[in-house]
Formats: sequence, structure tokens, C-alpha cells
Amino acid sequence: MGPRLTIPDNSFPVRSGQTLEVWRSRQQQAVEQALSDWVRGDAPAGLGEAMRYAVLDGGKRLRPLLVLATSEALSGHPEAAMRAACATELIHAYSLVHDDMPCMDNDVLRRGKPTVHVRFGEAQALLAGDALQALAFELLAPEAHVVPPAMAVRLCRLLAGAAGADGMAGGQAVDLASVGHKLALPALEAMHRRKTGALLRASVLMGAATGEADGNTWEQLDRFGAALGLAFQVVDDILDVTADSVTLGKTAGKDAASDKPTFVSLMGLDRAQAYADEVLMQAHEALRLSRIANRDILHGLADWVGRRSS
Ligand code: IPE
Ligand code: IPE
Ligand code: MG
Ligand code: MG
Ligand code: MG
Repeated sequence: MGPRLTIPDNSFPVRSGQTLEVWRSRQQQAVEQALSDWVRGDAPAGLGEAMRYAVLDGGKRLRPLLVLATSEALSGHPEAAMRAACATELIHAYSLVHDDMPCMDNDVLRRGKPTVHVRFGEAQALLAGDALQALAFELLAPEAHVVPPAMAVRLCRLLAGAAGADGMAGGQAVDLASVGHKLALPALEAMHRRKTGALLRASVLMGAATGEADGNTWEQLDRFGAALGLAFQVVDDILDVTADSVTLGKTAGKDAASDKPTFVSLMGLDRAQAYADEVLMQAHEALRLSRIANRDILHGLADWVGRRSS
């Protein structure tokens, strides 16, 4: 099934003095190469071109970075980690393609480019999303000698749970059903945990599943990922109001224009930022309690989520 991944030299231990930026940029390049290897352009009738357009050349690659950082912290299986990293990004990219379609958020700009349905038409965008989702799971289930079967099954289960009705797709359904409504904090939080938080949480847990994590480590990483995931969408709500479209690479001010309930509409900018900070502190605390020795990069990624500008 498809070419073997080109696994980059994965020996990037968190050495003292090595900055997060150096690690991040190396891993982003490695992920870009792996995605380019896997998302081939030869799918029929232009589908491959639409898939590559949706995935390559854009995006912060936060979900893959979380997989790789967690796996690295636990000395996980390198090929399984890179496959899992790409799989989370494929699910994410597919969710963006569908999120932007006229039947959902109806957006024309994504990652600084026209959205997939604007460029290739609605039917092709729908199919590109479908195919990217399938490819994510294909990547996670290679031949037994490539990734141990029990690990592959576990990775598939974690990703399926995060992408489906209990995760992203369910959250997106609530998002659309909530247009024009004022959600109370628990309902808004539950929506965010699903539509965005679930995949970020799963990214951390998939990284952990490529290595050895005892009960406490798993539990604290679960708390870390969940808190980081929630904070991420709160910051996304804030940036929709505070940043411009060029910086974001997507249409700013879209939430208010579409009458979406967000953390900013519920509590205002300052309290939304304080809420994000508070949830991020919980993420750092959970990470500390995990007692993983090699966790600097994960702390750094959590900080990045909080202070990102796009
Ligand atoms: C944007 O996600 C959509 C949400 C889930 C809120 P990102 O901000 O991670 O988008 P990219 O991948 O960097 O484009
Ligand atoms: C979308 O949330 C989350 C997804 C599952 C794609 P948004 O609709 O807020 O994402 P943006 O702001 O368009 O990136
Ligand atoms: Mg949306
Ligand atoms: Mg949107
Ligand atoms: Mg948004």
C-alpha cells in the first residue's frame, strides 16, 4: 500500500540549548515531506490534485507536532509516530475542507489560498475530504512488520474516536445547530472539546500510544491534551476577532458575521483570554504531574498555542 515513508533522522532529543523553534521547524519539514510522499497526485479525475492542494504547503502542523513530541518524550516507535502524525493532519485537513464548504461555514480563504471548493468545485472538495479521511486510516494500518498490529489498532481507535460523532464531526454538528443561539459556558465548552479539542487530545494520546506510558502518564497526558485542545479553540475564537485575514490566512471576523456562539461572544475578549490562560495552566500542570522527564517540547508547544498569532 503506497510507498514506504521516508522517515527523517528522528534523533531529535530535547537537548539543552536546543530551542523549540529549531525542533519545530525540523519536524515541520519532516512532516511536510512525509505528507507529500503519502498524498500522491495520481488519484483519478483530478482528485489527487485537490487532495494535495488541501494538505500541502500551509498550516502550522500542530497536531503532527504534538504526536511527534509526545512520542519522542516516551521514546516511541518512530515510523508509527510519523504515520500517526500525518494521519492526524489528514483528518484535520479534511475537516477544514468540509468546514469551509458553502453548506457549513462558507469560507473562500484557507491557509492563504482559495478554499478547495472555490478552486476545484464542491463535489471535488467533498470527495477530497472523504479520500483524505480514508487515507489517514490506511496510513495507520500498514503491514505487520512496519507497525506492530496491536499498536496500529490502538492508533486507529484513538483517531476514529476523535474524528467521529463523539469528536470532531459531532462537535461540528453542534456548531452548526448553535448558529444564532447563545450557549451557556458548559455547552460551549462541550462543543469546543468535541469539534477541535478531541483531535488535539488524540494527537497527544496517539503519540503516547507509540511508546510505553504507564497509567499515571497516560492519565496526565490525557488531561494535558484535553486542556490544550480546549484552549486552542478558545484562542481560535479570539484570533477571529483580533487578527486580520492576511495574518490568519482565513477570513477574520467570520464568527460574528455568521452569528456563531464563541468564547468571545459569551464572555468578551479579556475574559476569553483569561479563560484560555487558565486552561493552559491546567495543561502545564497535568504535564508536570505526568513526571515525564523529557517534556520541554510539550510545554513549549502548549505555550505556542497560547501566544500564537495565527
Ligand atoms: C484551524 O486549525 C481550525 C480549527 C480547528 C480551529 P489550525 O489553526 O490548526 O489551522 P492550520 O492547520 O494551522 O491551518
Ligand atoms: C472548525 O472550527 C473546527 C473544525 C473541525 C474544522 P472553525 O470553523 O472555528 O475553524 P476556522 O476558524 O474556520 O479555521
Ligand atoms: Mg466551523
Ligand atoms: Mg470555519
Ligand atoms: Mg474559527
